Amino acid sequence: MPQVYAMNGGNGPQSYNQNSSFQRGAVEVAKELIKEEIDKELDVKQLSSTSVHPFRIADFGCSTGPNTFVAMKVIREALEEKLRKEGLASEVPEFQVFFNDHISNDFNTLFASLPQERHYLAAGVPGDFHKVLLPKASLHFAHSSCSLHWLSDVPKEVTDNTSPAWNKGKIHYGGAKKEVLEVYASQFAKDLESFLNARAHELVDGGLMALVIPAVLDAIRESQTTIVTEKELEVLGYCLMDLAKKVRFH
Ligand SMILES: C[S@@+](CC[C@H](N)C(=O)[O-])C[C@H]1O[C@@H](n2cnc3c(N)ncnc32)[C@H](O)[C@@H]1O
Repeated sequence: MPQVYAMNGGNGPQSYNQNSSFQRGAVEVAKELIKEEIDKELDVKQLSSTSVHPFRIADFGCSTGPNTFVAMKVIREALEEKLRKEGLASEVPEFQVFFNDHISNDFNTLFASLPQERHYLAAGVPGDFHKVLLPKASLHFAHSSCSLHWLSDVPKEVTDNTSPAWNKGKIHYGGAKKEVLEVYASQFAKDLESFLNARAHELVDGGLMALVIPAVLDAIRESQTTIVTEKELEVLGYCLMDLAKKVRFH
């Protein structure tokens, strides 16, 4: 079983709640794109004639908030707007939002901070989003932001000093050999495929999916794109390893 680490819970100074303005930026940037795509791509007439209410949205890797609430509001409002535009204002359905994250996520903080004025029913769906979490053909809109780059496991080759992809104990692949990059990329491909297969099972015919994933253009060296430098990551890596050794020996 790979170990699973959720974000820091609660509302304190070290919590994800108080330290997620970077990820909030991604949600803000995606807003207009999501609105445009719902307007362009969603066949609400077909959906309202073939599927049963309520209209179901899921956020995969929602953490403890508050960014997920911003994203869910944008999606719900865009769907409502689309229905009005298509002359289906009288048929605006109930909305149900499924908040998904690892079972160790602080769902108490998430649910305690649900916005009062939210116009949707809320439910928690704990578990690994690489697996099926919802019934077949039950979901209308799948959303995930800043979560899909989390690998389900560390590729074993990077910690094996007999492998050509050994990463010499580093915590990051920036500036590493191509073999290291390749095993991380192959783990990502496997994880993404599992995620997409699970969503293919859950989404209704004609449903939509919005995935916001931090990415790197091929033309840019990955070491030039991180928000911290390669050297800083190396120092951070050594500190973490020293810390881990101390914890193990005490
Ligand atoms: C950086 S946070 C992003 C949270 C939120 N989407 C946002 O934009 O603020 C990434 C979240 O993905 C969750 N996550 C990572 N892998 C997951 C998995 N396999 N299944 C469910 N949640 C996962 C983590 O627990 C974490 O809460």
